[in-house]
Amino acid sequence: MDPKNVKCAAVIGSGVMGHSIAQVFAQAGILVHLVDLKDDLVARALELVKSNLQTLADYGRVNPQEIPAILDRIRPTTDLAGAVREVDFIQEAVAEIPEVKKKVFAQLEAACRQDVALASNTSGLDIFKIIEVKDPSRVVVAHWFAPPHIIPLVEVVPGPSTAAGVLQFTAGLMERIGKKPLVMKQFVRRFIVNRIQNAIVRTALEMVTNGWATPEQIDLAVKTSLGIRLPIVGVVQSLDFTGLNLIHDMTKGTVGENPFIEERVRQGHLGVSTAKGIYDYGGRTEEEILRKRDLLYLKMLDFLESLKAFKPV
Ligand SMILES: NC(=O)c1ccc[n+]([C@@H]2O[C@H](COP(=O)([O-])OP(=O)(O)OC[C@H]3O[C@@H](n4cnc5c(N)ncnc54)[C@H](O)[C@@H]3O)[C@@H](O)[C@H]2O)c1
Repeated sequence: MDPKNVKCAAVIGSGVMGHSIAQVFAQAGILVHLVDLKDDLVARALELVKSNLQTLADYGRVNPQEIPAILDRIRPTTDLAGAVREVDFIQEAVAEIPEVKKKVFAQLEAACRQDVALASNTSGLDIFKIIEVKDPSRVVVAHWFAPPHIIPLVEVVPGPSTAAGVLQFTAGLMERIGKKPLVMKQFVRRFIVNRIQNAIVRTALEMVTNGWATPEQIDLAVKTSLGIRLPIVGVVQSLDFTGLNLIHDMTKGTVGENPFIEERVRQGHLGVSTAKGIYDYGGRTEEEILRKRDLLYLKMLDFLESLKAFKPV
């Protein structure tokens, strides 16, 4: 199926993620059944969507006159089988509990059309091993980020049996509804962002627990350093600015030599100083590259200061 022909979807689970994912579909003009276990849960979810839309309207991202039609496209229900019978796409967003996911996928497969892609929003489960479905080729991960109605990224990840067409279709649909899909080559637990985030959280909690730094110190330290750099150079490109020879020496002395870095250093690709490192700077001089970076950093710094973003929310 072509993503542009999708008319109707279902989101299973209307909690922190589900209500907002349903909102994204509805904003894109797609009718969406929002399923949960109890009426009060789906009713609460719709209240949250209303409030989200009001915030977006106040900010100028949604035309307030369109809010009633967007809300009307969200159909709250507790009848999972009835909700998914005729839909073109299903996004699961139920609790991160293996037995719950397993049960829901079995219910979905029994109730929906055979050609419908089943996407899981799992954060860290090996979903492809947990669930038992007759046709695993239509199961895929579409992992959103909170709050889905604002954060652009959706990690789209195949399992060992996911059909190429299902992967492509899911990415295309995410794009159609205004998201930025990132298609991974293969499944690894926690995908890209949660792997990185987990490493940061683990280290921050270690410091707090041992009394090495207060929560406020850690957040201020991150916001006034990494917080300015990450949006501009990301995690990996930042190594080119540090210099791969230094990274090489540092990793040798700590976690052990890294073949990815070692190979580049051996070839003399040290980062921006040689116009090539992990990234290729296309023959630009070091001064040109640094000037471009610095102007972006300055803008980011001014912007964050103007928002008083270094203070706690
Ligand atoms: N919270 C986040 O920031 C976040 C971010 C990315 C991914 N995720 C993932 O999204 C999924 C949902 O997380 P959440 O934070 O929205 O959880 P949540 O607890 O807020 O919501 C889950 C909802 O699923 C409902 N549910 C449970 N069993 C159900 C069933 N059989 N049928 C229908 N509904 C059912 C629950 O009643 C609940 O309302 C999890 O897999 C989680 O790992 C969460």
